[in-house]
Amino acid sequence: MATAQSPLATPPARTAESWKGLFDTVYECDKVVSDIEGQLPKGLVGTLYRNGPGTHDWTESFFDGDGMIRAIRIGEDGSVRYQAKYVETEKYRKERAANKQLYRLAGTNRPGGMLANMFRPPAHEANTSVIHMADRIWALEEGGHPYEMDPETMTTGEMTDFGGKLHARTAFSAHPHFDPDTGDCFGFGMHFGAKQALKLFRVDPSARLHHIGEIPISGAGFVHDYALSKQWMAFFIPPMIPSMSKILFGTGTFFNSLNWEPERGLKIVLMRRSGGEPIYLEDEACLAGHVIGAHDVGGELIVDLCRQPEWKCMGEPAANFRTSDWAGYGLGGVCRYRIDPAAGTVKKEELCELPAEFPRIDSRREGVGARYGYFAANTRAGEGGWFRGVLKLDMETGATDLFDHGETKAAHESVFVPRPASAGGTGEEDDGWLIGFVHDGLKSETDVAIIDARRVADGPVCTLRLRENAGITFHGTWVPAA
Ligand SMILES: [Fe+2]
Repeated sequence: MATAQSPLATPPARTAESWKGLFDTVYECDKVVSDIEGQLPKGLVGTLYRNGPGTHDWTESFFDGDGMIRAIRIGEDGSVRYQAKYVETEKYRKERAANKQLYRLAGTNRPGGMLANMFRPPAHEANTSVIHMADRIWALEEGGHPYEMDPETMTTGEMTDFGGKLHARTAFSAHPHFDPDTGDCFGFGMHFGAKQALKLFRVDPSARLHHIGEIPISGAGFVHDYALSKQWMAFFIPPMIPSMSKILFGTGTFFNSLNWEPERGLKIVLMRRSGGEPIYLEDEACLAGHVIGAHDVGGELIVDLCRQPEWKCMGEPAANFRTSDWAGYGLGGVCRYRIDPAAGTVKKEELCELPAEFPRIDSRREGVGARYGYFAANTRAGEGGWFRGVLKLDMETGATDLFDHGETKAAHESVFVPRPASAGGTGEEDDGWLIGFVHDGLKSETDVAIIDARRVADGPVCTLRLRENAGITFHGTWVPAA
């Protein structure tokens, strides 16, 4: 006699069903997490902050949506708490009050056509990353200034221009990098205006901003991340050229006004951390995505990054995230660039062909060379769809250590947390844990996976089941308990 099958007995094939719950609306929350599988590692005490859009109610791109900070707080006593709170930007407050879309976004125009969008820049949603600096957390998005937030209550404070030092039309990118020796935060922002430029700056541990220099760029549409070594700040500017008339006159969104023009090549621009004149180099076109790390060897600058063949890999599913099957747009892998600024040469080598993104390193190796990179990844070259696994790559040997969460799961960025000396930590690179969100496509709930960084393929040593959907998050940070 045939028996009835549970609808969950046969998981769906790996299609958008596996990750579409990432884009559901997330509700503010403050709860104890009691469903814990495995043992919390001794010494893992602190808070994981994550940022990403909390709602896609009226967005057409998954990059759009109000920023929301999620916090996982792990106490000395083994208690776990999950908090989720929106960043109360000006845009958030006004739209919530009106209960309708008021603002134009980077990938979503306002209703009302051309007249409703003409000469309106995309709104600042503070939805991309969160850093910890000067006893505050800061919600970042590359279109505007940082929003300060209280690290405990996550109450939104002011949008800061650092005492007037950051021009109103100069943004603060979502990817600053910290010097682990000094605590200085090196960052950049796109300056919008007649003379478009990248402005470079340093924010000291007291949150005072110091200008380093500027790099004039014309026509560039997308500079998301950069590389920091002890000597250099290096920018990889892809040939994504915006149609300014479509943007200005409101006939397109910012994202769908970007044209991929590979004949223009990749522009690599270096500036010393101490300032001075920029140095310009070129290489074949690619979309240099997130930077893994950088370091100096002799006169050379070594940069490891996630390299995509073109914008369509991300642009198509980003623009059509509700309908795209994503499968046809497998991402590229990991690449090392060797740049000799004196000779003006660029050499590159592929380090890994697995689709890998959202890289992290042991932050103690920032600027001096990390051997290991940690990624959200897929399991074979060319595999599309949202990332299903966690990858460690030994960038010296090319060895991979991969854990596959499964075809119905979607892994976010995993943050490396060093094992503290009080828990037997050696201080060596890779001695620690990876902590990251994993979306369960069957339940549409979020788990927090904790993996021993030295045994990634063994899978989580501990899983915190939120019994909530925490939605999509892009970037975050770990703050150890004081
Ligand atoms: Fe990013």
